[in-house]
Amino acid sequence: MDIFRICGGLALRGEVKVSGSKNSALPLFAASLLTDDETILENVPDLSDINFMAEILTEMGAEVYRIDSNSWKIRPTSIVPYAPYELVRKMRASICLLGPLVARLKKAEIPMPGGCVIGNRPIDLHVRALQGLGADVQLSGGIVKVDGKNIFGNSIFIGGRHGSTVTGTANAIMLAVLTPGHSVLEGSACEPEITDLCNMLVKMGAKIEGIGSHLLKIEGVNKLHGCRHTVIPDRIEAGTYMIAGAMTGGDLTINGIEHAHMGSFLDLLKSSGLNFTLNENKIQINDNSTLNPLEVVTLPFPGFPTDLQAQICALASVTPGLSVITERVYPSRFMHVPELLRMGAHISLEGSSAIIRGSQKLTGAPVMASDLRASAALILAGLEATGETWVQRIYHLDRGYENFEQKLTQLGAYVERLPESELSKSISSSNNLIN
Ligand code: EPU
Repeated sequence: MDIFRICGGLALRGEVKVSGSKNSALPLFAASLLTDDETILENVPDLSDINFMAEILTEMGAEVYRIDSNSWKIRPTSIVPYAPYELVRKMRASICLLGPLVARLKKAEIPMPGGCVIGNRPIDLHVRALQGLGADVQLSGGIVKVDGKNIFGNSIFIGGRHGSTVTGTANAIMLAVLTPGHSVLEGSACEPEITDLCNMLVKMGAKIEGIGSHLLKIEGVNKLHGCRHTVIPDRIEAGTYMIAGAMTGGDLTINGIEHAHMGSFLDLLKSSGLNFTLNENKIQINDNSTLNPLEVVTLPFPGFPTDLQAQICALASVTPGLSVITERVYPSRFMHVPELLRMGAHISLEGSSAIIRGSQKLTGAPVMASDLRASAALILAGLEATGETWVQRIYHLDRGYENFEQKLTQLGAYVERLPESELSKSISSSNNLIN
């Protein structure tokens, strides 16, 4: 396993380009199964999760070619409706294969995705959506088995206790577009990644009204065809770089962004006093002013994204005053907190809120990443901290940030990828010094 060694305290300067969105690309790979034609996806981030998805489709019989590091060609002429457990268990997003398989083959058998460190991640809303469109769904031997012989267009509500479900909505849409009749999906998620999926499906011949809203009206068609589609920019990656600029007092330009996807996040940073300018598809930050404390509540889009909550906790840890960060999507998604405490942050957890008393500076320490966004938060903290920070288990990071250390290094940060054994060597040599 690799780790990162970060020497903090350097302001980030220069330009960085945001990659394509992982959370858009994964359902788009699944959507390519809705046709037996060829689909070409561009601006796909080069990430381990994308490689898992490509492997799963290949195992199912699709021809999957990597054209270059960010473009893929998928031709699923003949596929089976089963996905292998060894691959599916590695990635929750494989649940969004259910919709396309049932739509095209009238059958799907996908192993139930496992638990997740960011909290309870049930699939009851996915199941309800499939059932609402006439599918029979059974769980047997840890496998979700769907029989879609009798699917029909229907009006269904697909929201849940925590609001809408992103991949659950993706499943419902991908089933409805090839289901005979008229479907109305009330309570749909309207994240930009869902809009991207709808836009690609329309290119493939789907009939969808209400794109970008919570109410989607879909007229099922008999057949979809292939298309070429460019994945939208990753709003979470863009937000992460912006926080890096804010934390290090840098002079940073973030290119290739879509600010319409980042409204609540940009509004928060503006109201906390960060100076930045927005141009057509870039953000420039040139600021080392002290920010005001932050008050954040995560919510489904257009609310503040849960996928930037951990990174905002890192920023609040170095923002003087009392910040309150409340998590409403995954109430227990705070695995980064104990690690930030190791770096000198002052955070107490009260239910699903983190109360953070910002200090002037964090101090480097060995820390452990528990999940993708926690890894990003710890790296941001390391960039700001004095001394060395060692971030372990960065395979989580590799699932969702393309070339993170290269991009940070280009901006002037000191981030080094090393084998894990280097950390024990460093600890034993400092123990020798003490002895
Ligand atoms: N939920 C249910 N039942 C369900 C599905 C969801 O109760 O059947 C609940 C969840 O427990 C959660 C809420 O609904 O409380 C929202 O979950 P959602 O289904 O929207 O999450 P997801 O589709 O599994 C996607 C992203 C996540 C991101 C969430 C929320 C992908 C591949 N994953 O997950 O991304 O946090 O939406 O925006 O799109 C990440 O990138 O780090 C990540 C975890």
